[in-house]
Amino acid sequence: MSNNIQGKVVVITGASAGMGEAAARHLAAEGARLVLGARRADRLDALVAEIEAAGGSAVARATDVSRRADVEALMQAGLDAYGRIDVLVNNAGIMPLSMFDALQVEDWDRTIDVNIKGVLYGIAAVLPQMKAQKSGQILSTTSIGAHMVVPTTGVYSATKHAVKAISEGLRQELTGHNIRVGILSPGTVKTELASSIPGDEMRDAHQDFVDQLGIPADSYAQMLAFAISQPENVDVNEILFRPTAQQM
Ligand SMILES: NC(=O)c1ccc[n+]([C@@H]2O[C@H](COP(=O)([O-])OP(=O)(O)OC[C@H]3O[C@@H](n4cnc5c(N)ncnc54)[C@H](OP(=O)(O)O)[C@@H]3O)[C@@H](O)[C@H]2O)c1
Repeated sequence: MSNNIQGKVVVITGASAGMGEAAARHLAAEGARLVLGARRADRLDALVAEIEAAGGSAVARATDVSRRADVEALMQAGLDAYGRIDVLVNNAGIMPLSMFDALQVEDWDRTIDVNIKGVLYGIAAVLPQMKAQKSGQILSTTSIGAHMVVPTTGVYSATKHAVKAISEGLRQELTGHNIRVGILSPGTVKTELASSIPGDEMRDAHQDFVDQLGIPADSYAQMLAFAISQPENVDVNEILFRPTAQQM
């Protein structure tokens, strides 16, 4: 029986580490053909080699999602390799947490550029293709931060709330076009994400928290595979998940 993943062309941004990397491995094992983007090309190339050695199919392109031309080139690489794009996973993100009075304005700009504009550039790059195909799926990684805010997460949570709103608006507009739209909202997952936090003390404290209760990146891969594998007329709009040990 088909898993509804086999043979699908899946573009994943932020595939060089963490949840994107885990998702690439998991979906490749399920038979997806992958198009992988992130800035660190060496890590992407190693992942492509690993997937191909295991009998899978993948291509990669160095991509900074805050640059529209890079995102367009990533989609084009997918079209050149496979002729279609079935799923876009807007997963690349950064989380340079800080208090507002630290005035980390450049971090605010970067977070908006990567976490919001990167998602919009992804949507812009695949939407005409998916409408022409009359099929597709656009999934974006948000966060429980799309539902709540605590001190230091104001800007990060704002970007994730924005992606939730963007995805819901897009879903409504695409009703009847056979294009599914959804978000995955993880709680704490063991990845490299804390590395973008400025300031040793806050970064170390967050990393300790992640090390203590974070769940593995493969948990995200399982959720993503579930959303893709549903029948084409079943649109999973959000999956929110977190460690049992995480209160907020
Ligand atoms: N880990 C958690 O607890 C958690 C919880 C909720 C939501 N999330 C979200 O999950 C997503 C994945 O994060 P992660 O936890 O897996 O973190 P991660 O291990 O730090 O991975 C982040 C990925 O995003 C890529 N990236 C960062 N900036 C980029 C840019 N400008 N252009 C292209 N790629 C870029 C990184 O690759 P390069 O550095 O090679 O570009 C990397 O592949 C993010 O959207 C994050 O906000 C994470």
